Amino acid sequence: MFTPLKIKNLTKCYGDFKAVDDVSFELKQGEIFGLLGPNGAGKTTLISCLVTLEKPNEGLIQICEKELSKAADVKKAKSDLGYVPQEVINHGYFTTREILKFYSGYLGILKNDDRIDYLLERLSLYEHRNKKVKQLSGGMKRRLMIAKSLVHSPKLLLLDEPTAGVDIELRNSLWDFVKELKKEKTTILLTTHYLEEAEELCDRIGVIDKGKLLKIDETSKLISELTFRKMHIKLKDSPKNLKESDYLKSVNDKDIVIEFPSQLTVGQVMTSVGIDLNNVVDLQLKEGSLEDAFLKILNHNAMSIGKSSNKNTNQNLTGAL
Ligand SMILES: Nc1ncnc2c1ncn2[C@@H]1O[C@H](COP(=O)(O)OP(=O)(O)OP(=O)(O)O)[C@@H](O)[C@H]1O
Ligand SMILES: [Mg+2]
Repeated sequence: MFTPLKIKNLTKCYGDFKAVDDVSFELKQGEIFGLLGPNGAGKTTLISCLVTLEKPNEGLIQICEKELSKAADVKKAKSDLGYVPQEVINHGYFTTREILKFYSGYLGILKNDDRIDYLLERLSLYEHRNKKVKQLSGGMKRRLMIAKSLVHSPKLLLLDEPTAGVDIELRNSLWDFVKELKKEKTTILLTTHYLEEAEELCDRIGVIDKGKLLKIDETSKLISELTFRKMHIKLKDSPKNLKESDYLKSVNDKDIVIEFPSQLTVGQVMTSVGIDLNNVVDLQLKEGSLEDAFLKILNHNAMSIGKSSNKNTNQNLTGAL
């Protein structure tokens, strides 16, 4: 099976500091993969290694089955790769259209007008095609970067926060475009701090913090395994036979809040808490979110780091005593 991206034991250090720490994962063709993590987690550093802006200290990278450490393969790998950097690069004096033409030429595509027009249309840049880059707004510049990354119809697209600074309407149209690219079997790795959008868009999620890949799984699985469903119930009469339960979060006369794992049905949890269904006037059910799952993974990691550093401190103290 074709593997658009394979990363094995990737480590990138800046001096003694490990910005990416022994990360391994693979992407499947046509999937949208979200690499999520707090500021400074190592997302951009990892992507910079994939596009050869940074040289890893250790590990293997294969782009569309070509190994980046082999000089002969780098050019071929780059022709399969589209990249939108986090920082907007300003090409000042050229026009939007010229940038796309120059970049096509750089990649060896001399006649690319149809593709360029298509991208200008799809990214709402057509009316700005003759403007110089310095005359574009921040959001337009970012859309130009995206158009530029796609002039050669790459098999693997890396989007490092493509929607930062882009207004809501264009963000939505951009994500629609990403879904279309997926249908054409383009594989997409993206980073974003908009977790609601990642939840809607990404087939799988990897969570990275302090350079370590903490968790990788299907988006729906992460949510169902790591989060709780929250149910607000309004009763006709004050409940008489409530049972003690960890799921019961608050009881305020006839208003009850229950949190329970997604493996349980509403009926099962009501029975286990002792609520008579005939007494229910209304209920609201809120599913867990990717944000809940993400925070849980980060908190769990922070606690385990805390525990191990406490242990070290204790050991050091014991040693000193
Ligand atoms: N050139 C560099 N020299 C030294 N340290 C660096 C360099 N580039 C990044 N770092 C450090 O590596 C760590 C990871 O940075 P990186 O830019 O990869 O984070 P990020 O996950 O992309 O964060 P953000 O969400 O803010 O974009 C940070 O601590 C950062 O300060
Ligand atoms: Mg970054």
